[in-house]
Amino acid sequence: MSLTSRAATSLARQTGRQLAARPAASFQQHRNAANVAGNPNESHAHVTSPFTRGASGRQDTTVIPSFKRYRAGNEQGNKVFQYFMVGAFGGLTALGAKDTVQNFLVNMSASADVLAQAKVEVDLATIPEGKNVIIKWRGKPVFIRHRTADEIKDAENTDWQKLRDPQPDSDRVQKPEWLIMLGVCTHLGCVPIGEAGDFGGWFCPCHGSHYDISGRARKGPAPLNLEIPAYDFAEDNQVVIGT
Ligand code: FES
Repeated sequence: MSLTSRAATSLARQTGRQLAARPAASFQQHRNAANVAGNPNESHAHVTSPFTRGASGRQDTTVIPSFKRYRAGNEQGNKVFQYFMVGAFGGLTALGAKDTVQNFLVNMSASADVLAQAKVEVDLATIPEGKNVIIKWRGKPVFIRHRTADEIKDAENTDWQKLRDPQPDSDRVQKPEWLIMLGVCTHLGCVPIGEAGDFGGWFCPCHGSHYDISGRARKGPAPLNLEIPAYDFAEDNQVVIGT
């Protein structure tokens, strides 16, 4: 046998001996660990488990741990502090809620320019008899007609019960000589033309609706009379539209 093969054989034997000895050592280590775990005083002497039952030191997860050592010494003082905190936070929350609601209402209320547009004053002395004037109110046209005596008679003598939107002339005016209404066609919202149509009132060229001298729908597709806005006579010759 050569020198090389003898060395190889010797190395193989030594390795085999070491492998055979390892399980025994490992088993010994395992036993030592088991001994340490079985004796809690040796390994966990500094830990007091809250789940320990009785003097035997047996551990049980159904035991309710005691938290006595964490409780405050003075319970009365503790309650006063709690009440104070609840009261203080309640007060702060109420203040915050009040400010939020107040800011919301201020933001939602109409601004000065919107309020200015809400009402329009019209001087009626400048409108001659038998003439129309159109003013703008809240973005819509308003027709003001200074009616003649003949027009008033014509409006009052119409057999209004037979109209598609029956309404007497007296329900549409506060003073017979002044007819005030929105200039928006009740069909699809066009602006009718004054002093036109088959009934001497207004005519809507969009689809051919005719309104009489009281603004009532008489012919064409318009289903309703021209709308009367809220208005008031502030003085004899002054009207305020929008109230
Ligand atoms: S919108 Fe006036 S008739 Fe249609």
